[in-house]
Amino acid sequence: MNYPEITKPDIDKIPVRPNLDPNFPLGGEFDWASIEKEMDINHQEGLNLTHLAIDRHAASSRRDKVALYWEGKNGDRESYTFGDLSKLTSRFANALLGLGVKKGDRVFTFLERVPEIYIAIFGSLKMGAIVGPLFADFGPDPVRDRLQDSGAKVLLTSPSLRERIAPLLPELPDLKHLIIVDRAGGYPAQAGDSIYGEIMDAASPDFPGITTGAEDYSIMHYTSGTTGKPKGAVHVHHAAIQHFATGKWVLDFHEDDVYWCTADPGWVTGTSYGMFSPWTNGITQVVYEGGFRASTWYSLIERYKVTVWYTAPTAIRMLMKAGEKVVGQHDISSLRHICSVGEPLNPEAVIWGLKVFQQPIHDNWWQTETGAQLIANYAFMAVRPGSMGRPTPGITAAILDENYAELPPGKEGQLAIKPGWPSMFRTYWNNPELYQSRFQNGWYITGDNAYTDDDGYFWFVGRADDVINTAGHLVGPFEVESALMEHPAVAEAGVIGKPDPIAMEVVKAFVALKDGYEPTPELRRELMQFARRKLASATAPRDIEFIDSLPKTRSGKIMRRLLKAKELGLPLGDTSTLEEF
Ligand code: PRX
Repeated sequence: MNYPEITKPDIDKIPVRPNLDPNFPLGGEFDWASIEKEMDINHQEGLNLTHLAIDRHAASSRRDKVALYWEGKNGDRESYTFGDLSKLTSRFANALLGLGVKKGDRVFTFLERVPEIYIAIFGSLKMGAIVGPLFADFGPDPVRDRLQDSGAKVLLTSPSLRERIAPLLPELPDLKHLIIVDRAGGYPAQAGDSIYGEIMDAASPDFPGITTGAEDYSIMHYTSGTTGKPKGAVHVHHAAIQHFATGKWVLDFHEDDVYWCTADPGWVTGTSYGMFSPWTNGITQVVYEGGFRASTWYSLIERYKVTVWYTAPTAIRMLMKAGEKVVGQHDISSLRHICSVGEPLNPEAVIWGLKVFQQPIHDNWWQTETGAQLIANYAFMAVRPGSMGRPTPGITAAILDENYAELPPGKEGQLAIKPGWPSMFRTYWNNPELYQSRFQNGWYITGDNAYTDDDGYFWFVGRADDVINTAGHLVGPFEVESALMEHPAVAEAGVIGKPDPIAMEVVKAFVALKDGYEPTPELRRELMQFARRKLASATAPRDIEFIDSLPKTRSGKIMRRLLKAKELGLPLGDTSTLEEF
């Protein structure tokens, strides 16, 4: 805690939001029924995320309010009101019914960041399907794993992404329908494909009634662990009440806000906070299809007069790198509140934010499994640079020792949450045992290590497992190791996170070659390309080091901890169970 607290220059004028207690402790018991009342929820009628996020606004004075300003990577611009989205999502829901899709079927999207993702996700939710958004950067392996595991029946994709995964279609017997979004036009449909525009035109824009209840499954996001393939964390429609509430508490939404969440819908931030939170609050949001470029980002803030901005530490560090001159070329004075999530936000970034945006960046913490923000720095609260903040209402967070007993402030341990918050995941798809294993002694164990200070602020220490966090994306080392092992030259591979000044960690692989292969720079390059084609550029190794053999336990488990120590030049610790190193 070497950094002074930072407050917004106008902190005295920032009203404390209802339900937020400005005095410690935040968190703890909370009457969620009060939020349901605010959202006009009547469980007898059912509960549906699309109803809460779109249809109820379309039936109110917000009908003609812009819900979505979309800007394409080529500068195309489109806008959709809540009224438009209500009709379009009804069409999509009806189109799915026409294809024979039933409540509980899995509908996945594998598409660039275009409006059709938003329409398809809310359309699917409306008719009771379970949605699964996939990151458009994925190569064939992650797409196959997720579609196979979920047994997805429908995939919404684009012509170019369809081509990328065409070879694996025979491995996906459950996948009955491909819906192709052909924005450019002229796609020669493959036999059996449905064309998005055609099925939408043929479907009715009316979808009466609510088809789901609070505990029906809504969305699943695959997330990585230390071992095995990624697991699908499954959420329910009722999570919407927490998206709504945290939108007010943490993102400080007000009716006239223009909000920009930079996360892709393929990751949980892009759905919980790039769809559900702003729209359950009836907030206008901006979606940009393109990638990172400092000047483009600032010009988007300027053009749309963005007031609330939710981004990630890596993006902030990239903006820092781009320098202050480019900031000065844009009028970004509309920005009122800036939040960040996904990885540790270093104090320097918070302080830089104060300098260039005249306000601190507010870090908050949550996970795919938690569904919503659980620990946060609030607009009205002093920010302690480097801290994730304090628990949101309804959340009891604690630091536990290895026996799951609570630790006092100042002691590092496992970050744990008392189960039962509305947006908590309900299972890992097809893996109830793993789900159960995340709960110990009455706590949900997050897999992160942290500590609290005397005032109840939470400070992140690191992951308790081998999962790598690169630019806010979790990467399971096993996935990368498996991909590399498919190359004929690779005997074994061990993957770790290597520290990086911008992305926090990048994926690094140690590779032992089979006899007859030479560790040449060409082979190194080939392996990197091989992994990139199979995985995603974000998750493929950025660095590969050849090694004679990997350190393993007597039972044959790769000791990534030792690879990491080797990378960092640290002492290797207890190596008594090692075969060799
Ligand atoms: O390790 C923590 C890190 O990201 C993990 C959750 O990643 P994911 O399930 O992909 O969810 C992304 C949506 C937030 C956490 O277990 N993490 C998240 N927020 C922070 C963080 N690490 C440090 N500081 C944070 N604010």
